[in-house]
Amino acid sequence: MELSNRTVLVTGGTSGIGLGIAEVFHQSKSKVIVCGRNKKKLSRIAERFLDITALSCDLGDAGQRKALAMDVLRRFPNLDILVNNAGIQRYIDLKKGVDELKSGEDEITTNFVSPVELTSLFIGHLMKRPSAAIINVSSGLGFMPMLDTPIYNATKAAIHTYSLVLRQQLKDTSVKVIEIVPPMVDTDLNKGGRNAAHVKFRGISVSEYMLTIVNGLKNDVEIIFYGDGEEIMNEPRGESEMRLLTPRW
Ligand SMILES: NC(=O)c1ccc[n+]([C@@H]2O[C@H](COP(=O)([O-])OP(=O)(O)OC[C@H]3O[C@@H](n4cnc5c(N)ncnc54)[C@H](OP(=O)(O)O)[C@@H]3O)[C@@H](O)[C@H]2O)c1
Repeated sequence: MELSNRTVLVTGGTSGIGLGIAEVFHQSKSKVIVCGRNKKKLSRIAERFLDITALSCDLGDAGQRKALAMDVLRRFPNLDILVNNAGIQRYIDLKKGVDELKSGEDEITTNFVSPVELTSLFIGHLMKRPSAAIINVSSGLGFMPMLDTPIYNATKAAIHTYSLVLRQQLKDTSVKVIEIVPPMVDTDLNKGGRNAAHVKFRGISVSEYMLTIVNGLKNDVEIIFYGDGEEIMNEPRGESEMRLLTPRW
């Protein structure tokens, strides 16, 4: 994939992996638009990068998703890459029932419903571009679930499965579908939960991880794993030998 002279929307491009991806395209002289909720993060982007457009949007809200798509398509008719990156993660004890499930943000909406819906809001436009891409950020936990994050794992497995079919349905169009499968990367993801649980291992740095992403994008890799992730994640596993990542505390 050519990283230069593109017009790219990165959801959740205000911190962590999304910001890393936004910077990669920005450094390659592409026009970058990011969105997020946190006002401080949004103004930090606007101060640091005068030519990155930072838009406020809560992707958990259907009305705001639609308004974002309309705004971006009106202001950036050359948009040719959608990066579905925004995501959240929660530790959930399923034994505690519905109160626990509903006690925090809705991972299903943010991590699955939102990228699926944004894709459908942009797909008609993207198919008219000579060369376009949808980049979905899943997770290693969608392939090998972690015990503490049951809903998160499932949303990421769903994004993986969805991306496989999206790629096939779009195979005769100008739109490529790329899936990025991050390992543990040191970002704000579930920071509160991890701090409360005294999790010490934070993962690799965003800048180190970007080397894998840039390499994968430049070489047209359809599913970008990290290191030997592809072999580990795709190991055949029967139900009885289902591997779970154990809690980190
Ligand atoms: N870090 C890891 O170890 C890891 C591993 C595998 C996969 N991933 C995936 O990588 C992606 C990026 O996560 P990250 O690690 O970079 O975490 P992060 O630093 O917390 O970034 C998440 C981004 O998503 C945005 N976001 C979350 N909910 C949103 C909402 N409802 N509306 C709009 N924006 C929203 C955040 O903006 P606000 O702060 O403004 O809400 C932020 O910009 C996620 O999909 C995550 O699941 C991360």
